[in-house]
Amino acid sequence: MNAPLLDLDRPETSDLQDFRRAVLSGLSRQPRAISAKYLYDARGSALFDDICELPEYYLTRTETSILRERARDIAGLAGKGVALVEFGSGSSVKSRLLLDAMPDLAVYAPIDISRQHLHEQSARLRRDYPGLPVEPVFGDYMALRSLPGIAKDAPRLGFFPGSTIGNLEPEEATAFLRNARALLGHDGALVVGADLRKDAKVLHDAYNDSAGVTAAFTLNLLARMNRELDGTFDIDGFTHDASYNAELGRIEIFFRSLREQSAMVGGRRFAFGEGERVHTEYSYKYDVHGIEALARSGGFKIGELWTDKDRLFAVAYLVADL
Ligand code: TRP
Repeated sequence: MNAPLLDLDRPETSDLQDFRRAVLSGLSRQPRAISAKYLYDARGSALFDDICELPEYYLTRTETSILRERARDIAGLAGKGVALVEFGSGSSVKSRLLLDAMPDLAVYAPIDISRQHLHEQSARLRRDYPGLPVEPVFGDYMALRSLPGIAKDAPRLGFFPGSTIGNLEPEEATAFLRNARALLGHDGALVVGADLRKDAKVLHDAYNDSAGVTAAFTLNLLARMNRELDGTFDIDGFTHDASYNAELGRIEIFFRSLREQSAMVGGRRFAFGEGERVHTEYSYKYDVHGIEALARSGGFKIGELWTDKDRLFAVAYLVADL
C-alpha cells in the first residue's frame, strides 16, 4: 500500500485536536508549559536538522563519531537477524550507521510523531537499502505499548540516540526505559545516547547558537500555533530563553514574552506579562553514574559505554537486567 500524500498545511484532525488540547491546557496552568514534542512539526523537524549542523551544537557530531567508531562493536553485541527499533527516528541519519554495520537485520522499525518525516525517510531507506524490510510506526513512543507484527521472533535492538533521553524528566526517563524494556523483551538491548555534564559555557552555547537557529526552533512553536490553531501571536514579541541550571544538571528552555501582551489561540485569549515564560523543554545532562542509575531504574544494566576523547557525550549499550 502506498502512503497517502501528505499536505503539510493540513495536519490530520486528530493531531490538531491533540495539539489544541495540549496548548490550551499548557497555557492555562501555572507555571505554563507546552510539551517539547509539539516543537517537531515538519518545519520544526527541519529546523532541528539545522541545529544538528551548528558549530556550537557538538552533540550530533560527537555522537555520530562515537557511533561510527563503534557500529561494528554494536553489531557484534546485538548478533544477527535482529529487529532494529528506533525511538523517535527523525531523519534516520544515525541509524544509517547501524544499518550499514548490520546488513543482516530482520527489519528496521522507525517510530516517529512526524508522519511526513516518517514516510519520506522510509521511502529513502527502502531505496538505499533494497533488501531491508522497513516498517515505520507512526506514534508517540512514550505511549506505545506494543509493536504489532514487527518480526515477532527476532531479538530486538532499540536505538534512542540524540540525548533525547535527557529531554525527559528523570521519572519519565525511567518510565520510558521500563516501557522500552517491555517492548524489547528479555533478550532485548537498547543503544542510548546521553549528553554528559561539562563546562557550563559549552552547554549554554549549544542551546544559544550565534546564528539563531535554536531561537527559530523554539519560536516555531508560536508560528505553529498561529498556523494550525488560528493563533495571533506576534512572534517578534517573544524570545527564546535557554540557560544551564548546574545544580539540577539541565538546560532549561522557554519562550519568554518581551512585553505585556495577549494573543488568541484555539479560540481563547491568553495574557502574557513582560518577562513571563512558557516552558518547552529540559535537556538533562548526565554523568556515567547517573546513566548507570537511570538504566537500572528502567530494568537495564550497562553492557558497554563509549565516550569521545573529550568526554562530551556517551553512547551506552544497555542490556535487559534479568
Ligand atoms: N535532544 C536535543 C537536546 O537536548 C533536543 C534539542 C536540541 C532542543 N536543541 C534544542 C530542544 C533546542 C529544544 C530546543 O540537545
